[in-house]
Amino acid sequence: MLNIILLGAPGAGKGTQAANIIKKYKIPHISTGDLFRATLKQDNPISREIQKYINKGRLVPDKIVISMFKTRVQRPDCRSGFISDGFPRNLFQVKALDGYLEEINRKIDAVIYLKLSSAESLKRLTARWLCPSCNRVYNMITQPPKKDSVCDCCGVKLIQRKDDVPETVKRRLAIYKKETFPILAYYSKQKKLLTIDANAQVAVVSNRIKSALKKAKNS
Ligand code: AP5
Ligand code: MG
Repeated sequence: MLNIILLGAPGAGKGTQAANIIKKYKIPHISTGDLFRATLKQDNPISREIQKYINKGRLVPDKIVISMFKTRVQRPDCRSGFISDGFPRNLFQVKALDGYLEEINRKIDAVIYLKLSSAESLKRLTARWLCPSCNRVYNMITQPPKKDSVCDCCGVKLIQRKDDVPETVKRRLAIYKKETFPILAYYSKQKKLLTIDANAQVAVVSNRIKSALKKAKNS
């Protein structure tokens, strides 16, 4: 069993790196952002409530996120563990997660922190495009599709996330600094924090994560 948290600013590469980690460790990827975006495809009171926060780059209320995370962890594929991308995102969620894991007799094994400057995050996010069909993520500067604006896998026209416009990215980065950044100290005190310099090519960052996890497992 391997329970991992993936932390980092918006655009640090959490989704990109999670895709590599799940292949190696055979654990499911839980992205609260992806779960919310899937909910937005339906039209009901809860999705309308969530939309108000996501599109403006604000945090969805803790109660909703915590309940959604717990429901996801109860699914059978999480028996082998999980990699949580985007949760917890503030100290209240950290405590709620600790309490829940204790209840189900589990613990966090490692917290991977992808370190990237705000300027680089902004550059990456405003160039991000994704496939609305298979959710594959592209970057028009660093990882463009083979054919202009069309997904390599499904041939569907790529779209941009509503929260990737510069003004909203700046708000997300400010919220990250205020709400999420303080939780790094909490996990550092517990000696679980693995800090990875994320300002490198995807494969390089991926190798850095693999080495750090290997080292942590053997220590
Ligand atoms: P979420 O979807 O989690 O967004 P985020 O944290 O802002 O992070 P992103 O998904 O934007 O970036 P990423 O780090 O995954 O980067 P990616 O790999 O795509 O959350 C969205 C919203 O949901 C929140 O704002 C909030 O409203 C709500 N929410 C979610 N969780 C919540 C919670 N716990 N509590 C409350 N609300 C919550 O990469 C970015 C780009 O860079 C891509 O184009 C990629 O191709 C490119 N790239 C990646 N790696 C590299 C590299 N090494 N070099 C060059 N380019 C790269
Ligand atoms: Mg993501």
